[in-house]
This record gives sequence, C-alpha cells and structure tokens, in this order.
Amino acid sequence: MDRIRIRGGKPLEGKIPIGGAKNAALPLMTAALLTDETLTLENLPFLADITTLSHLLVQHGVTITMTGAATAGETGHTLALSAQHIVSMTAPYDLVRRMRASVLVLGPLLARCGEANVSLPGGCAIGTRPVDLHIAGLERLGAVIELTNGYIEARAPKGLVGAEIIFAKPSVGATENLMMAAALARGETHLVNAAREPEIGDLARCLNAMGADIDGAGTERITIRGVPRLHGARHRVIPDRIETGTYVMAAAIAGGAVDLIGAKHSDIAAVARVLEKAGLVVSETAEGLHVARANGRLTGVDVMTEPFPGFPTDLQAQMMAAMTTANGAAMITETIFENRFMHVPELCRMGADINVHGASAMVRGVPQLTGAQVMATDLRASVSLVLAGLAAKGETIINRVYHLDRGYERLEEKLAGCGADIERLVDGS
Ligand code: EPZ
Repeated sequence: MDRIRIRGGKPLEGKIPIGGAKNAALPLMTAALLTDETLTLENLPFLADITTLSHLLVQHGVTITMTGAATAGETGHTLALSAQHIVSMTAPYDLVRRMRASVLVLGPLLARCGEANVSLPGGCAIGTRPVDLHIAGLERLGAVIELTNGYIEARAPKGLVGAEIIFAKPSVGATENLMMAAALARGETHLVNAAREPEIGDLARCLNAMGADIDGAGTERITIRGVPRLHGARHRVIPDRIETGTYVMAAAIAGGAVDLIGAKHSDIAAVARVLEKAGLVVSETAEGLHVARANGRLTGVDVMTEPFPGFPTDLQAQMMAAMTTANGAAMITETIFENRFMHVPELCRMGADINVHGASAMVRGVPQLTGAQVMATDLRASVSLVLAGLAAKGETIINRVYHLDRGYERLEEKLAGCGADIERLVDGS
C-alpha cells in the first residue's frame, strides 16, 4: 500500500487549483439514471470514489465515457453518462459497502423503473449513518419498501406521487435522493427542513437543465413539480468547498500564503470567520481566495460542527490539526457524526495535547508537533494527519493513503507545488 512521507516545517507559498466537488459529483452521476439521454458532467475530479460509483452505474447499464488526461486536474475531467437501457435494478452489497453514496441510486431507479433493490450500506468509520430518512421520504411518495436480507426493496409500480416530506433533521443524502425521485413523480413535492449544502443547489441546477421543475434548493424548503420525463444536459460541477477548506487549514498550520484558484468564499464563509478569529487572513481575489498566516502562532478558537451554512463536519479533523499548535485552547464539538474523532489518538502520537469528553475535544495548543508514523480510518481524518505533518518537526509517514485517494486529487503534487516537502512512497519503496 502507498504511503506519504512529509518532512515538516516549511511554510507554503504558491497557487493551488481547486477541483470539482466530490460530494456534488456523486449525486450528479446518479442523476444520469433518470433519463435515457446523455448527461455530460464537466469539471469532475479524478478520484477513487468516482471510479467506485462508475462501476456501480455500469452494472445498472449506464455507458460511461471519460475524457481529460489524468494530469488535467486544473480543468477537470468530463464524464458522459448514458442510461439508455437500465439492465439491473439491484445495487449489490459488494459495491455499496465500499461507498455509502451508492444509496443515491435508490431514488432515481425507483422513479424511472418503478423498482429498486439497494443494499443497506451498514455502519462506517465515522458513525452508524442510518438511511431511515431516505426510506421514510420515499414511502411518503407512495413507494412500498421492505427491508429483506440486508436490502432495501422498493416498489412503485404505478409511479411515485408528490407529497409534503418534513425531515426530522436535515440530511444531505436524503434531500438529494428525494429531490431526484420527486422530479419524475406525479404532482408537487415539498421537502421541508431540507439540507442547504451547496451540493444540493448544484444537483437542482443540473436536474432543471435536464427538464425538471425545482425551486428553493439551498433553502430549507424545496418545491419540486414532477414532470413526465427528463432529457440529457451538460453541467459543470461546482468547486470542492471541502478541498478549499482543507488547503485553507494547510496554510493555517504550516504558515505562509497560498492562492486557492477557483475557490468560492461563500462556500466556506463559516470556516473563514473562525480562522480569521484565530489570526488567519482570508480574502477574495479575482481568481478565488488568498489565504495568509503572518509570522507567529494562531490563537485557539472554539468550533462546533453544524449543517450548512455552519462549520462543516468534513473540516472538523483538519481544524483540529490546525488548533494543535495554536496559542491557547480550542474546544471542538462534533454534532453531526458520533464517532468522528478517530484522528485524535494519531494527532496525540505526534505530540498534540487533546482530551475527548463525549462529543467535544479540548485541544491545548503545543509549540511544536513531532513527526511520527500514523494512519487513519477515513478520508478527512487522514488528511488532518497530512496537515499536522506539514507543521511537525522531522519526518511523518502517513499509512493507508487509499483513504486520501478517495477524496483528494493530486494532494501531494498540489502541496509540493507550494514548497512542502512531501512525496508518495509507492508500494514496495
Ligand atoms: C454527506 O453524507 C457527505 N457525503 C458527507 O461527506 C458529509 O460528512 C455529510 O453529508 C454531512 O455534511 C456525500 O455528500 C457523498 P447526512 P450524508 O445524511 O448525506 C443522520 C466526506 O468526508 N441521518 O447529511 O450521508 C446522519 O447519521 C463525507 O466527504 C439519519 O439519521 O450525510 C448524520 O448524523 C463523509 N438518517 C446526519 O443525519 C438518515 O436517513 C447528517 O447526515 C440520513 C442521515
């Protein structure tokens, strides 16, 4: 298995291109199941999760063509997806267990074919992550759903019918699944207490370009007027706000100044607010964002994760890494997932002083981290160790790099381009 080696202590200086958003791209790809015409997605990141979902879609009968060289990260890849004939309504356990976002085929398959059998995703490294809100919402649209042998078996032989769905809590995935299902339902659907993440707005824009009639995406009330059919479209994926936030944190912990090309301030406003309090300068430029940390340490600030527009759970681990070397203490509270502190013991092995009490972690800043061999169990936890390695004294080796490959395109190349001493050790070296 590949590893990453970092020799820490170098401030960052340079430009980093921000790729297309993984968490926007995945639901957009499943939207291709809603039409027999071609959906073309531009600015797609080249990531392991995109490949995993492609495999699932291909076994449903989708034809996929990718263009754009593997080195063309700055402009992204283009994926043409054509679901002219759906040959299987089953998403098997073997593929779904590798990536939870696979459950997003449920709404589109059910809406288009009147049937879908999707493996229950099961638990994952960051929490139990149930799919009850997806299931209850589809039932409100008239689907008959049984849970049998680990599968969600959903039927709607006479089609789905619009309804009002009030979510008990905002869920990104459930909002996306329901929005796609309701796009082809008869009549009007209202999603109340919907998730407001930018990825929801991106999906709605793409669905509308495919002929759907959706209003209010990005607010907590979304109205979907069902249409009999959708057609092909061409859509450009939004920039990745979590990749953006990760490189903002990289500048925060390593120091220096970076320009994040293509980044959008409004997508990370909550993150910028918190880091500005900690002593970072984040400003908008014509190309994206400029982020700078003057000499001296950051100041510890408290953070609580929340649904958008609050501070994202997907940047909690990176924020914690940034706070490990701050002046003073920071209380970091995780409210979205119950088990998202797996990076804490690894950061402590690098000299961090962190104590977890339930959903909160008290981080007491230390003047200097030290390099170590570390590994993590999920994507964002892994990247927090890379950030810690950038600031640590000596050598840090990150194991299980495949977690990083799920969500960060050319991570080591982008950081090395800004002066970091970082390289990938290919298996066997
Ligand atoms: C999306 O996951 C993201 N994944 C996650 O990104 C992200 O952490 C999460 O949203 C929160 O922002 C994709 O977009 C592909 P949720 P999702 O449904 O949709 C509970 C990353 O690192 N819930 O908004 O699965 C759930 O347990 C990741 O890129 C239910 O109780 O998240 C959680 O506490 C990992 N029942 C909360 O809602 C349900 O039916 C929010 O989860 C669904 C969710």
